[in-house]
Amino acid sequence: MSTTELDAYWMPFTANRQFKKAPRLLAQAQGMFYKTPEGREVLDGVAGLWCVNAGHARPKIVQAIADQAAEMDFAPPFQMGHPKAFELAERLVKLTPPELTKVFYTNSGSESVETALKMALAYHRARGEGSRTRLIGRERGYHGVNFGGISVGGIVANRKMFGHLLAGVDHIRHTHDPARNAFSVGQPAHGADLADDLERLVALHDASTIAAVIVEPVAGSTGVLIPPQGYLQRLREICDKHGILLIFDEVITGFGRTGQPFAAQTFGVTPDLMTVAKGLTNGCVPMGAVFAKQKIHDVFMNGPEHLIEFFHGYTYSAHPLACAAALATLDTYAEEGLLTRAGQLQGYFAEALHSLKGLPNVIDIRNIGLVGGVELAPRAGEPGKRAFDVFLDCWEQGLMIRTTGDTIALSPPLIIEREHIDRIVDTLRTAIGRVA
Ligand SMILES: Cc1ncc(COP(=O)(O)O)c(C=O)c1O
Repeated sequence: MSTTELDAYWMPFTANRQFKKAPRLLAQAQGMFYKTPEGREVLDGVAGLWCVNAGHARPKIVQAIADQAAEMDFAPPFQMGHPKAFELAERLVKLTPPELTKVFYTNSGSESVETALKMALAYHRARGEGSRTRLIGRERGYHGVNFGGISVGGIVANRKMFGHLLAGVDHIRHTHDPARNAFSVGQPAHGADLADDLERLVALHDASTIAAVIVEPVAGSTGVLIPPQGYLQRLREICDKHGILLIFDEVITGFGRTGQPFAAQTFGVTPDLMTVAKGLTNGCVPMGAVFAKQKIHDVFMNGPEHLIEFFHGYTYSAHPLACAAALATLDTYAEEGLLTRAGQLQGYFAEALHSLKGLPNVIDIRNIGLVGGVELAPRAGEPGKRAFDVFLDCWEQGLMIRTTGDTIALSPPLIIEREHIDRIVDTLRTAIGRVA
């Protein structure tokens, strides 16, 4: 494509000027691989964007979308329903921790977060504790890009340009502690006590003003931070002690990424609300969802029966194409055991990834399930540049990775084989060696 053909599209979360000088275009995808328009094969080290968990162009999913488009293209989700929306919800709640029994559909991770935050506020108000309006996030957290999400989020670049954001939000400390935990395999040993930071905010604001705490069980976008052993359990205990709802944002950890269907199960902690998107439809059609405990749902179910109970929803909630894609995705996951496959491969993946220890400028390596982070020392005066150069080198070598700051993030499709893991790590070794 010529430079002028690239002009009109203002690309999201992209270095637009750099991209348009040297475009990286993808034209086809199959299994573990993309192809460029010239037919060059690129190994997918990040499941598209943490979403194509079953690999690309899976026949059942492709067929389901095509069939659904022909059968019924759209159905309004307000005051009407269609069978696949209900079937999907029934199937989803069989995969989640048993206490999460209700499903509310959205179209993205960002919308799931906004929905969960609104549910938390409305829940407290509906049960007569309307003073609980404060929302607590965590430093370095990523919860999408809408105003609620960036308010509880803790990544400065996503916040600083956009004014005052939501009022009444505070943040607990992040869990990154390289001095004590660098090169931990799996969950780091130190840092459960960081959950006590919530007690600090309770002491400051009083529990009667706090509605909910939202965290990613594994922080992805900030550069793969694995929860320290016991941290999430401690957070759960403190929330319970003070009547605060706990929200897990499982937009990237949901659907098998950490070795169980959800990170809640991997870490043995059940939240009150749980947000998902991405892997729900294998990334094929935009869709998100919020799972809620029965008690949260039931608080809304009073008043005259002809009245709407929760004033929230999207035109495309439960879109028929998304529901069809999600049902076929769940079939594919089940038939191939993909929701637990990361658990079987994580030992091999961890060993391969940690073999990069000792390379120049590699200052930390982190992993859980099929998620990996390799942190590089920033170049003086050029934060993010070293990792970006590794990203470009990998692309030239035929591997797609992601970088955030100076951390390389890996989240390959769960259909990955050992030979692909070897190839990812060999390519990274070459790139880091060259770029450093
Ligand atoms: C934890 C988390 N929450 C929310 C989102 C936002 O999802 P979306 O980009 O679909 O709005 C993301 C996206 O990466 C995410 O990682």
